[in-house]
Amino acid sequence: MIHLFSKLAQIFSLLALCIVGLVVALVFVQADLLQMEENEQTMLTGANCGNPSVYPTMSDESLSDTARLGRELFNNNCQQCHSAGAEVIVGPGLKGILERRSMEWIVPWVQNSQKMIAAGDPYGTAIYNKYNKAQMQSFALTANEIKAIIMYVQAYKQVMPSIVQP
Ligand code: HEC
Repeated sequence: MIHLFSKLAQIFSLLALCIVGLVVALVFVQADLLQMEENEQTMLTGANCGNPSVYPTMSDESLSDTARLGRELFNNNCQQCHSAGAEVIVGPGLKGILERRSMEWIVPWVQNSQKMIAAGDPYGTAIYNKYNKAQMQSFALTANEIKAIIMYVQAYKQVMPSIVQP
């Protein structure tokens, strides 16, 4: 009789172990499924699916938030006369601008280039003459906004070297 009890107890403990194992396995599978769902959601709502209309070759993830703001400002204010690459449109391509000019020069230039030319800024006068006295209008942009534009121009240079340097 005692023998039978201990056998039964053995069987029950084995069964209990099996159940615990099953529950643990289920929890893991569930967690995996949740993770998969989450991944799918980020894939669907991720930056990639945002707005591919502007600069489709430049992936959004490669841009910081500031550079993304800069891209928007650039597209709205500068693009009709400047490329972010090297080619001349109305004005010079802005590629490598920080190698030619400092931010301290660029900010007041963008805010009022005519004022700088009138004040006799030598570099400003020289490019003004070089570009057939085409006037760049003044922009009511803050220093930070102009910095964001230049950050975008710099990122553009790094991401698309094969297009910028043919
Ligand atoms: C209407 C055309 C036009 C627009 C719009 C324009 N620019 Fe210009 N930009 C020029 C021209 C032309 C020059 C060359 C100097 C001159 O003729 O005044 C120039 C020169 C520059 C330079 C000096 C470039 C160098 O290689 O030294 C910078 C920097 C610049 N622009 C930045 C900007 C930014 C930033 C914007 C947008 C906020 C902008 N420009 C919008 C026409 C424009």
